[in-house]
Amino acid sequence: MLTEAMRHEIEAEASLFEQRRGACIEAMKIVQRHCGWVDDENLAEIAALLDMTPVEVDSVATFYNLIRRSPVGRHVILVCTSVSCWIMGSVSLLQHLQERLGIGLGQTTADGRFTLIANQCLGTCDHAPALMIDNDLHRDLDPERLDAALAHYA
Ligand code: FES
Repeated sequence: MLTEAMRHEIEAEASLFEQRRGACIEAMKIVQRHCGWVDDENLAEIAALLDMTPVEVDSVATFYNLIRRSPVGRHVILVCTSVSCWIMGSVSLLQHLQERLGIGLGQTTADGRFTLIANQCLGTCDHAPALMIDNDLHRDLDPERLDAALAHYA
């Protein structure tokens, strides 16, 4: 259920658009920031607020890869699997990460700390291999730098 704070933020976004549906992605990002992911109930409430159907909102959610429609850990790791990172060692980096966390792609650690997701190019190919943890970009990675980065996320 949307909180009053979430409703207020979504209304503020919707007021910026000629058509309220223009705030759809931002509305889901607001819910995600508060709840970690967008469940069916919140999605339906977003739809009602923005004069959309739940199916329309869900079609945006499933198209836009930064919206989570299932529960995730406290921190989401997006590992770039595109070509520049692949050339620069993303496969071994991912293997290191999976061994270190004890999970595979699409999974969440038992303590709920991290969820690991494959992602297409993060737009920083000149600093490959790269990944994102939450909203933070980590570049020019090797296993040691990656381990040091992970330590900053409780
Ligand atoms: S290919 Fe990895 S950031 Fe572009």
